[in-house]
Amino acid sequence: TFVIGENCIKCKYTDCVEVCPVDCFYEGPNFLVIHPDECIDCALCEPECPANAIFSEDEVPDDQQEYIELNAELSEVWPNITEKKDPLPDAEEWDGKKGKLEQLER
Ligand code: SF4
Ligand code: F3S
Repeated sequence: TFVIGENCIKCKYTDCVEVCPVDCFYEGPNFLVIHPDECIDCALCEPECPANAIFSEDEVPDDQQEYIELNAELSEVWPNITEKKDPLPDAEEWDGKKGKLEQLER
């Protein structure tokens, strides 16, 4: 499966959802997640993210391992998203900032 990591938080560019053949993205207030049981590992979304926030499960950086469980958990409760929308207003400013987990809204 593929996993969305920290750099999506407060950016949420949503380019990823447009290319997913199985529509397995789910949307929270300031973050997106991938449903691990629905993702077919096509890898199309990974290069689409302007924030480089998407990883194959086995390439998630050591300091973002908790995002694997977070994607699984939140994709069960958040609504599906299938169409691109505008990024969050301060996306450029937050792109690349560290420690964004505390900014996550559920
Ligand atoms: Fe969708 Fe493919 Fe990305 Fe999985 S790897 S979330 S199936 S685009
Ligand atoms: Fe997030 Fe990147 Fe998609 S910032 S919404 S994972 S395009």
